[in-house]
Amino acid sequence: LTGWRDLAVRLAETIAAEGNLSDPAWRDAFATVPRHVFVPRFLRDDSSVVDGTDPSDRGDWLAAVYSDTSLTTHRAPVPGTNLQWPISSSTRPSLMARMFHLLHVAEGHRVLEIGTGTGYSTALLCQRLDDNSITTIDIHPDLVNQARDRLASLGYWPHLHVGDGVDGVPVQAPYDRILATCAVPTVPPAWIRQLSEAGMIVADIRGELSSSLVALRRTDDKTVEGRFLAVPGHFMWLRAAADNPLRTGGSLESTIDRDNTGRAETNVDPTILKTPGLRFLLQHPPPAIEQIWSAPRDGIQLTHIHAQDGSWAEVEPACGGRHIVTQGGPRPIWSLAEETIHLWSRLGQPTRERFGLTATSTGSHRVWLDRPGSEHTWQLQAR
Ligand SMILES: C[S@@+](CC[C@H](N)C(=O)[O-])C[C@H]1O[C@@H](n2cnc3c(N)ncnc32)[C@H](O)[C@@H]1O
Repeated sequence: LTGWRDLAVRLAETIAAEGNLSDPAWRDAFATVPRHVFVPRFLRDDSSVVDGTDPSDRGDWLAAVYSDTSLTTHRAPVPGTNLQWPISSSTRPSLMARMFHLLHVAEGHRVLEIGTGTGYSTALLCQRLDDNSITTIDIHPDLVNQARDRLASLGYWPHLHVGDGVDGVPVQAPYDRILATCAVPTVPPAWIRQLSEAGMIVADIRGELSSSLVALRRTDDKTVEGRFLAVPGHFMWLRAAADNPLRTGGSLESTIDRDNTGRAETNVDPTILKTPGLRFLLQHPPPAIEQIWSAPRDGIQLTHIHAQDGSWAEVEPACGGRHIVTQGGPRPIWSLAEETIHLWSRLGQPTRERFGLTATSTGSHRVWLDRPGSEHTWQLQAR
């Protein structure tokens, strides 16, 4: 393929212009690595294929590959539904650039990447550092094999592994930097154990309602600590099985108990549940809220809340700023959410970057407001 170099340089310039590529060495890496080698085909939203070898697709393919977009490469069926969800993609280049920036890499650093995917971000790491110091792991064997071939065709020879990244890669540890390109609800203890002194982890800590990048520094041999960013990663989950898109490898089937429902009134407008800082906080007290959505019924817009333990609520607007709440299941989920809404207001409606995380290799996860010693802390739920 000719002409790709100009496109890669232009992509690097675009990312730099948005302020995400201040380090010239990373800028060179983006201008040097041919993304088209790692994304020979991708899927549109309707799952139709855009194939770089098909002359009728070629123009669209090349434009997309050298644009600042995430490109889905694989989807798989969601058990219990007729949906297909992504199981691998090439991450949006500017998001990768932002994560690389947060990593603060230096020559000689050993890096572990969780989520090899297409191999594109692995290639960027190999280009920026020594390929022998890069280790990458993906749960899907086919992806790792494809990535190995693509990387080798460009002369990059990192350490590639197939397996569950939740365990890290002990054989190459310790690592100065760990980068996850799939989302985790909590920091896996193995990552903390495999981090060198002064090591850092950059990951997307995600619940069902909110996703935020976090940069964590090791503070002692068992602990990492750092702040959340207002930047969502929106990564797909680090999942338990290669071909099941769901985090736990289970099924999406669920039952709602409509017996024993309770009714109440509230003056809290449920549209407040769209606010990112509040959504972040709503994830911490149990039961974990899994979904909040809005849908019309009989011409009235209802807000629905579902929690992991089967608790549910529907909130319906009534006259004079009042809302009617119907809730059921094991716990009164709207009433619990309302307590968190009031707390969030009392705390000054904090945005995500006012929160931080202290995580230990024994599995404890403390979210704090403003500083680690804050009186306002929450336990992150290992879900
Ligand atoms: C967004 S993609 C990675 C993008 C990649 N960095 C790139 O540039 O192509 C996320 C990857 O995480 C992988 N993944 C999901 N769960 C995993 C797990 N438990 N262990 C290792 N990799 C996992 C997926 O198979 C997928 O390839």
